[in-house]
Amino acid sequence: MRGAPVGLPAVPEFQTSPGMRDILPPESARWRRFVEVFAGVVERAGYGQVISPLLEDLGVFQRLGEATDVVTKEMYDFVDKGGRHIALRPELTASVCRAFVQHRPVVPWKVWYTGSQFRYEKPQRGRYRQFDQVGVEVLGADDPHLDVEIIALGWEFYAALGLRRVRLLLNSLGEPDDRARYVEALRAHFEAHAEELSAESRATLAKNPLRVLDSKREQDAPVIAAAPRIAQHLSAEAAAHFAAVQAGLDALGIPYTVSDTLVRGLDYYRRTTFEYQGLTLDSAQNALGGGGRYDGLVESLGGPPTHGVGFALGLDRTLLACDDEGVFAPPATAVEVFVVDTTGGLEALRLTSELRAAGISCDRAYEQRSMKSQMKAADRSGAAYAVIVGTDELAAGEVALRPLRSDRGQSAVPRTDLLQHLQKALP
Ligand code: HAM
Repeated sequence: MRGAPVGLPAVPEFQTSPGMRDILPPESARWRRFVEVFAGVVERAGYGQVISPLLEDLGVFQRLGEATDVVTKEMYDFVDKGGRHIALRPELTASVCRAFVQHRPVVPWKVWYTGSQFRYEKPQRGRYRQFDQVGVEVLGADDPHLDVEIIALGWEFYAALGLRRVRLLLNSLGEPDDRARYVEALRAHFEAHAEELSAESRATLAKNPLRVLDSKREQDAPVIAAAPRIAQHLSAEAAAHFAAVQAGLDALGIPYTVSDTLVRGLDYYRRTTFEYQGLTLDSAQNALGGGGRYDGLVESLGGPPTHGVGFALGLDRTLLACDDEGVFAPPATAVEVFVVDTTGGLEALRLTSELRAAGISCDRAYEQRSMKSQMKAADRSGAAYAVIVGTDELAAGEVALRPLRSDRGQSAVPRTDLLQHLQKALP
């Protein structure tokens, strides 16, 4: 490690806030590639990108449910200079539904998105206060095959990244009435066993008995194991929908585990819910992504009754899983050519501009460094060729072309032929 230059403090005065990160090159190139791969998968299935604001009226997110930590505890909200109560988005499903109500697009509306979300959570590996998601939503269609299509798209995306250690969990939370009856049955069960539950789960019980099922605490496991199951509370309609989703996944050969304790953190789900878990990650942060149906959300935002289904996948966490599995490495960002100019720099300025215009990636050194220092920079750049201009070359109207990744020696090339020469030499 290099020490701080004399006179500067070792720790800079300003650093990223807790739970926020700078994504530097070459990692940032991997992030962009991640989104490109995702766009490729979902655009082939007819999804178009929606880009919505980072800020929304607080009310948009309050519709996500008052029993959700994301809304009650984790929101970044403030009053703006116009006196509006605004929040930084904690997720994108609500924004997409708000946009649907505002613009009334033709249904089914199939959209995808990417971007940063903000939640004031306790930062740890895989859990940040600013994190990125990619996701899809479909509004205005009730076909269980759509649930299957969406789940399959997530599955296909993980395969495209090269991830193998992913498990798909599936559940149905039933229609709102089923869910309400089930919540009451759960409440009765957990209240009867309240003294066996952890203090945290007792607090959760008072707000939202469903979320107790999500507890990972050992102390809660026996009470949860003995709890009533959602399957016994599904209406015939919801059970048929769930069976159709499973039949569709079977038809596509996508493996899944039905998990009747999968309730998810957000409150808007009805019928299908699912989660992709990364098997290499710690269980507290192993959800790579998740989603489900949320048929009442558009209505709660002032729109007509509209079916909705979608998912969001966490970019940060998925990349951690990629690291664990040794797949989807940062793409190579090396330039193809490095221009070394010891005649003052004007030739480097012209050459880099010409080569870039012709589609050849190239870089150069600055500040009229020595030949030795420029050659070092050329090596570091990862370029395949150095194009060298010294006083002799300049006078002769030539450049020296030196391969940097092979033992072949350098050759003199007329300045006017350089472009053609490089176009032939580069892959
Ligand atoms: P979510 O489960 O809250 O769902 O988030 C989806 C994914 O975002 C998680 O599985 C996780 O990978 C990632 N994630 C969530 N919080 C954090 C965090 N603090 N740090 C890092 N990654 C995080 C939703 O957001 C729903 N909008 C999904 C959806 C879309 N449902 C229907 N349509």
